[in-house]
This record gives sequence, structure tokens and C-alpha cells, in this order.
Amino acid sequence: MTPNVTPLVAGNWKMHGTRASLDQIKAIAEGVKGPLAAKVQSLLCPPATLLYVATALCDDSPLAIGAQDCHETASGAHTGDISAEMIADCFATHVIVGHSERRTDHEESDALVRAKAEIAHRNDLVAIVCIGETEAERKGGRTLDVLKTQLAGSVPDGATAANTVVAYEPVWAIGTGLTPTVADVAEAHAFLRAELARRFAGEGVAMRILYGGSVKPGNAKDLMGIDNVDGALVGGASLKSEDFLAIYRAYEDLTA
Ligand code: PGA
Repeated sequence: MTPNVTPLVAGNWKMHGTRASLDQIKAIAEGVKGPLAAKVQSLLCPPATLLYVATALCDDSPLAIGAQDCHETASGAHTGDISAEMIADCFATHVIVGHSERRTDHEESDALVRAKAEIAHRNDLVAIVCIGETEAERKGGRTLDVLKTQLAGSVPDGATAANTVVAYEPVWAIGTGLTPTVADVAEAHAFLRAELARRFAGEGVAMRILYGGSVKPGNAKDLMGIDNVDGALVGGASLKSEDFLAIYRAYEDLTA
């Protein structure tokens, strides 16, 4: 955790979820009501097809709704893509950019991710900028170099603590059940904090840095209790409301 920074627990449903999953969104929206909501922010990023109905379901809930990606331009001939304006028009407030699955499946570069974050900002969306090393990069001792390059290239100059969240997601930990050690997470987050503070001064000190990659109810408290870890980006475990809520509630102890 970082002093005076409100943590964020975010769920990323990826390409999962139909109308049949709306009950899960409702359960999460209900479950995050209560005193903890004053101390911890919650966010769910369902597929784009559910965005509009999801925000309607969250009308009287502190649960925020976000998208998983946006196009880097405002509008135009880009069949199948979704603009930041369309996301904001659904009353969503956040968008994930540069997730490793987008970087791999769609060969997204740091420059493209940065352009996506910029257009998200122009539409008053909070950009959740994802970075992380592959297994080969970690084994080759290049983790911090990779994080430095990705952070510098993907986070726009206009980033503030209010409009940008960084998510550190080691690629080899995503969906695998593997997680880095507490010491490795602490090292990566301290490094990212120092880089952000150097570039953005006070805004960088207060910018949230989430950890993502196989966060589960059983390891949430250990991971989210680490210095400079300001929440979690949760994939698989966010699909079940009980698991997502158990991760969120790990902060009951951490903030006590
Ligand atoms: P996971 O995914 O929790 O299923 O590992 C995390 C993510 O990709 O954001």
C-alpha cells in the first residue's frame, strides 16, 4: 500500500460474459456497498457488449465500470473497434490499455498503448496502463529494464494520479496460478514508484500501481499488503462474485 492513496480492486472479465452473467455483476455491485467503499475503490471491466447495461446496474453502487480496450483515434473507418467516446457514452469511467493479451494478440506497441491512454484521457476516462515482463525476460534478468521501457513508452506525459493507473502484470503470472514472490513484487513496484516519481513528481508518488496475475482470495492479502501495491487487477477470479468480493474484502484487514 502507499500512504494516502485509495486502493483500487479491478476485475477484468476478458472475453467472458453474456447476459447470463449479469447476476454476477449485480452481486458484485451489491457486495461492494458498505463502509469499505469509503476506503477502497472497486471496478469491473466486462466485455464491451455488457458495458451499457452494467453501468445501469451500478447506478446505486460504488462499483465503477470500465472497458478492456479502446481505439487510439476518435472515430473513423475501423471496423470492429470501439472508441473512448463510445465507452464514456456508456457511462463507463475507466479503460484498460496495453493488456499483455492485446500486446501479444494484436502486436500492440508502447507507442500505440500511449496513444490509447491519451485518447482515454481526452474523453475523461481513467486509463489503466498495463506493463509486465515475459518469463524469458525475467529469467534473463531483464525485468526492470523491460518495465522501465514499457512504462516510459506507454504512459503519456499528461498522466496524473487521477487519470492514470499503472498495472504491473508479469505475463507469466497471468492465468497460470503462478505469482512472483513478495520480494519480487516489492522490488518491481518500488522501481515503478521511483520511475513515476522521477517523471511526474507528486502525481507519480500518488499514482496507483496495481499488481495483476493470478490474484486469488487466498493470496490477495499478501500481495495487496506489499509497499507500493495499490490494489489488484484480477482476471479469472473476478468472474465469480464471491471470489472478487473476497479479494476486495482483503482490505478490511489491510485498512483496519
Ligand atoms: P488472472 O488475469 O487474474 O486470470 O491471472 C489477470 C489479468 O490478465 O488482468
